[in-house]
Order: sequence, then C-alpha cells, then structure tokens
Amino acid sequence: MIEFLLNNERVSLEECDSGISVQQYLRQQHRLTGTKEGCAAGDCGACTIVLGEITTNDNAIAYRSVNSCITLVANLHGKQVLTVEHLAKGNQLHPVQQALVDHHGSQCGFCTPGIVMSMFSLYHTDIQPSREAVNKALSGNLCRCTGYRPIIDATTEVCENRQPDQFNAAEQQTLAILKEIRHKHVDVFANRVHLPDSRQAMAILLAANPSARLVGGSTDLALEATQQLKTLPVLISTQRMQDCRQITISDDTISVGAALPLSYIEAVLVEHFPALHELIERFASLPIRNQATLGGNVANASPIGDMPPVLLALNACIEADNGTTTRIIPASEFFTGYRQTQLIQGEWIKAIHFPRLSPNTHLRAYKVSKRHEDDISAVCAVFAVTIENDVITAIASGFGGVAATPVSCNELAIQLMGKSWQDEHVRKRGQHILMAAFNPIDDVRASASYRKQVLGNLWQRFWFETQSDLLVSTRVPHYA
Ligand SMILES: Cc1cc2nc3c(=O)[nH]c(=O)nc-3n(C[C@H](O)[C@H](O)[C@H](O)COP(=O)(O)OP(=O)(O)OC[C@H]3O[C@@H](n4cnc5c(N)ncnc54)[C@H](O)[C@@H]3O)c2cc1C
Ligand code: FES
Ligand code: FES
Repeated sequence: MIEFLLNNERVSLEECDSGISVQQYLRQQHRLTGTKEGCAAGDCGACTIVLGEITTNDNAIAYRSVNSCITLVANLHGKQVLTVEHLAKGNQLHPVQQALVDHHGSQCGFCTPGIVMSMFSLYHTDIQPSREAVNKALSGNLCRCTGYRPIIDATTEVCENRQPDQFNAAEQQTLAILKEIRHKHVDVFANRVHLPDSRQAMAILLAANPSARLVGGSTDLALEATQQLKTLPVLISTQRMQDCRQITISDDTISVGAALPLSYIEAVLVEHFPALHELIERFASLPIRNQATLGGNVANASPIGDMPPVLLALNACIEADNGTTTRIIPASEFFTGYRQTQLIQGEWIKAIHFPRLSPNTHLRAYKVSKRHEDDISAVCAVFAVTIENDVITAIASGFGGVAATPVSCNELAIQLMGKSWQDEHVRKRGQHILMAAFNPIDDVRASASYRKQVLGNLWQRFWFETQSDLLVSTRVPHYA
C-alpha cells in the first residue's frame, strides 16, 4: 500500500484499476479532468501536475512539475499531489491563474492547466524570473494557439510579485504529514511495483523476480506502456534506495547517486563541470528532468542519450551493486551493444563517479537537435583536451547519435597527442578523423552525411573555442 496527500486529503492506495500512470489515475478515479492527455509521451505538457516533496534539509517542501502521463502511481508515495483543481481558493483564482487571465494567456485552453502548473512550480521557488528562468520553467509545455509571449509575460509578472498563498500557510502541517508517511513501511504496490529501501531488499527482490525490470523516474520505461501499448512486467523501483540517492564530493571525485533525478544533480555537476550547463538544460524539459534519473539514462544505453557521452569524455565510472558487493566499471567498457551494458542479472547501478578535471583540461559539450528544448539529439559531442605548455597531453571524447552505442574516438588521442594545440593541423586533422570514424544511420532526426559533417564541424568549433580560452588564460593582467 502506498500513501500520499492529494492536495490536503490523505490517500492510502492498495490497488489501482486505472492503469499505471498518475494521469489516468487522477482523471478516472478522482474525476480531476483538468489534467489533460495530449501525447501521453512526456512531450506536450498538457498533463503537467506538481509534486510536493520534503527537501533534503527536511524543513520545507519543494514543488516540482512532472508529466503525469509517464509518472507511475507508485512514485506518489510520500508526496503531495497538486493538480490545477487545487490552486484556486474558493472563488478566488490562484495568482498564477489570475496572471494568465490578465495577460490573455489562453485561447482553446487545452494546454492551460499544464502551463498553470509549471507557472505554479516556479512561483514556489525563490528563483528570479529572468527570461531564461521562465523559459526553463515552461520548457515542457507546448501551446499551439495562444503564442508564448502572453504566457511568458504572465509568468514573469506573477513571479516578480510573489505573495504567500494557502500552500505556504499550510506548509508546516503538510510537512508533518509527509514526514509521518515517510516512516511508514511500504514494500509493494498493486502487486506490480516493488519499492525496496535497502540493498538487501533489492537483491532479494531481483533474485525472486528474474523477469522484473528496474525503474527510476519511468520517463523511458513508461513509454513502452503508453506508446507501444505493452503490458509492463513486475517493476522494482530505485526511488526509495537512499544509498542510490547520495552525492559525495571528495578531493578527486564527484559521485552522484543513480536514482537522483537530473534536476537534483544539475547544480553539483555544473559547479564542477560548468561546460555541461547548456547540455543539461537542454536535456528534455524541466518536468522530465524532475523525474529522469542519471542511472536510468546510463542503464538505458541509448545511442542518442545525452549523459553517456559526458561519462565517456570525463572518464567516469559506473558503480554496479548486487547487494553483497559493488564493482566499478569504466564508462569506456560499460556500453557493449545496442542498448546493452555490462550489467548482469541481479545488479543495479548505484552511483556514477566523475573524476575532477585537471586545471589544464578544457571541456565542452555540444547538442545538435531540431528543437532547442525538449528534443533528442541528432548528434551529441563532448570533448575534453588537456593542454600543457601548448602541447596536447590527453584527449577524451564521447558521442551520441553516430553509432549503435554511445562511443569515444580513440584515434583523436592517437594522432594528435604531443602536437601543439595552436597548430591548424590539429583542427583539420581532428575534423578529418571524426568524419571518417563512424558510420551513422539516416533517420528522422538527421541523415548520415549530416551527422558526419556536424561531428567534424563540432570538433572545429571546439578547437576555436579552446583557442579563445587559452588566449584569455594567458593574457597578461593589466593593472591600472
Ligand atoms: C519527452 C522526453 C524527452 C526526452 N529527452 C531526452 C533528452 O533530451 N536526452 C536524453 O538523454 N534522454 C531523453 N529522454 C529519455 C529519458 O528521459 C532519459 O533516458 C532518462 O534519463 C531515463 O531515466 P529514468 O529514471 O526515467 O529511467 P526509467 O525509465 O525509469 O528506466 C530506463 C531504463 O533504465 C533501467 N534503470 C533505471 N534505473 C536503473 C538503475 N539504477 N540501475 C540499472 N538499471 C536502471 C530501467 O530498467 C530501464 O530499462 C527523454 C524522454 C522523454 C519522455
Ligand atoms: S500528455 Fe503530453 S506530456 Fe503528458
Ligand atoms: S491555448 Fe490552445 S493550445 Fe494553448
């Protein structure tokens, strides 16, 4: 049995007849039909709801937008669920709703509940509503008729004039209930989703259910049900595994728990690897990043996933656990075939370990996709070059979209190490090497020849941008 708060109502749920997704559950069991279904694939945002969760310091509630169409009902355990129906206070609209009315931010209205919920989640932060922050908050919501300007204006204005609302007033009370729920024992939901909270429990479950699938944020796995109409097998969730949700920083390594969603780890990754900022912000949309785990992205082994190239270029390692022992697998050995990895039956990913960069290493990450937000890469390229006294001493790389697995190009290091970075030959040779290195496929995202061309061009861009970095770092300071 799982337990959660639906607005202020405490709900205990043993079974769920309405399918796997929170959206179906809300619409069918509670008649909360403000939560719409557009794509059922995490793309349009019509189903956006907000989940309130106890913050890591235990003294507040963080409200995060998620796509309810691909959120498992089991993942509601211990959270507060808010839909568009919960925001108004009697006849008085919530300030975010009123702002949309005042700015004429809705026409047919189909996208509006989802947009309201994304606005609400930004309203409940202390983030300055810059254009970038507003775009980020709305990155998972498509509107086909109003046009975004009034929606952006409404979001900016209401978040510039935040006032406490009924959710702030009830925060301590809500917090107390969620803490009480958190300590309750829960092991399985609807006989279909197991929620272990220890390594031992996870190992026993995996041994007893050899055909079960692990699930993190379900942003990939749920699509098998909503798009391919498959019946999902028994699932074992990593969401309550505290040792898969740790961030540890040592002198030489940044370690990130595999069950942490990307939006939770973005700050630490960007602090230590600032060059990853744009790639992470362009990974899907904010509601997807609020659910999608790093472990899910890596285990998925998709050739077009965005984080595997990062792991390859940073020489990261994957820590696999089987409940008794853990083993460390270098990212370069992890991806063994199309959507295949080194993980064996009974293992799960516990954490990813990123070595710190040396001060002489220059890192850049590029994503080329048709849309800026919420789109899968046609090509993803991550480069890390170490330059000492203008001589290349190491080159690491990772690519997505160019082969059946995420891949590196060792030829770059073989041919260019020991050369001067300033040498034009390095730019031209690197371009040539990369254009010949892989045999990408033609598909809806890009043709094979486009992918090869882009790869070579990204290397050249990396070369030029690194030249600029070097010029800045060697410029003699000017003292007035
Ligand atoms: C609209 C949309 C946009 C997207 N955009 C992007 C994008 O821009 N870039 C990108 O890379 N991806 C994108 N994705 C794909 C997806 O969001 C990511 O791959 C995500 O990181 C998967 O994480 P998850 O926790 O949701 O995985 P889940 O769906 O829960 O699981 C995915 C797979 O990993 C396995 N798994 C999960 N956790 C573990 C673990 N700890 N150990 C071992 N196996 C595990 C599961 O068994 C399953 O096979 C997008 C998806 C959607 C729906
Ligand atoms: S219905 Fe489109 S994102 Fe959920
Ligand atoms: S108001 Fe019609 S889709 Fe946005």
